Amino acid sequence: MDTENAAAAEIAAMPYDPGVFVVGHDYQIIFFTDVAGIGWVEIGGVRYTDEEAGVLRYGNVHKIPVPGEALDRARRYTVVFVEYAEKPPYYPKGVERVRREYVFTPLEGDTYRIFQFADTHARTEGPLALYRETGECDLIVLNGDINDSSRTTDHFRTAFVLAAGAARGERPIVYSRGNHDTRGHAAQQLLDYIPTACRDGRRETFYSFRQGSLWGLVLDCGEDKDDGSVEYGGTVFFSEHRRRETAYLHSLIERKEEEYAAPGIRTRLAVCHIPIVERYKGQFDIENDVYDEWTRLLSEMGIDLLLCGHMHRAYILPPHAEGKRDAAFPTAVCSIPSVKREDGTEYYVGGLIEVAGDRRTVKCIPDGEAAEF
Ligand SMILES: [Fe+2]
Repeated sequence: MDTENAAAAEIAAMPYDPGVFVVGHDYQIIFFTDVAGIGWVEIGGVRYTDEEAGVLRYGNVHKIPVPGEALDRARRYTVVFVEYAEKPPYYPKGVERVRREYVFTPLEGDTYRIFQFADTHARTEGPLALYRETGECDLIVLNGDINDSSRTTDHFRTAFVLAAGAARGERPIVYSRGNHDTRGHAAQQLLDYIPTACRDGRRETFYSFRQGSLWGLVLDCGEDKDDGSVEYGGTVFFSEHRRRETAYLHSLIERKEEEYAAPGIRTRLAVCHIPIVERYKGQFDIENDVYDEWTRLLSEMGIDLLLCGHMHRAYILPPHAEGKRDAAFPTAVCSIPSVKREDGTEYYVGGLIEVAGDRRTVKCIPDGEAAEF
């Protein structure tokens, strides 16, 4: 195959740049391929795989845990993908389709910008246009309802398009699940496509992370109505998931010296699709004791800002806002899927955090509220 054809075959095999997702002090590099096979990542001559119990995972999605220390030091990684048209019990035959090197820059120091996409609900054009207008950011947050639902695994392409369009495999990404992501037949497969922390034999969608002077906490409320809602038809058990999450928040406080009180941390950011400090009405009025407790625990941790979506509105609540749960921190809700201009064209509203030493601001962009925090 000549070089041009080889490049075309490579793009056909791996249509989107990988996402480098932060979990704890480490990364999970996730990439999607249009054909089935085996993928891995090489950093400084070391091969990192998704092997479990000795077996390399075969399929269209490749989720490779890599040590943060190795990638931060090397600042480059190579994605390798070998296509296997089938995987018979004897003599499977693989053909290398992708070997692509990426330069990677972690968030460092105390001057940086963070961009939030949330509630894109399968849109990519408007959100990516906003990202391009905003200019390069050091960390990308995908804060829930990126896909419209998890009806099929094809819906997960939206997150890859946004991750690749903004971060290009070169910048870290934080992923927080939204309530719409929990709906549909493929919701259980979503965990193969997104970063997760493994605790007590279970993959979890809530965890802390560390990037430079930033400590972060990813929360996941699950659905916005009671587990018994007819909308879910008995297919979910989020009350149990939230109970484990409460226990996890307590464990962070017990280990605070390794977490949010570790040396070098200057900003503590919580990321959660649903703004837990809001008080909801009717069928959305659920889990008040849980969200009161989470708000109290986040206040105790000294969270500087809670970043959210879900409301399809753009506003910033100060600490101790009237009529809300009593939070010691501000909450920025920054996402509107589509706003119509007078001329009939539409635009997307997202969020931008800018940190320069002690000066920190959050804005709903392109033209919404802004606040220092
Ligand atoms: Fe939502």
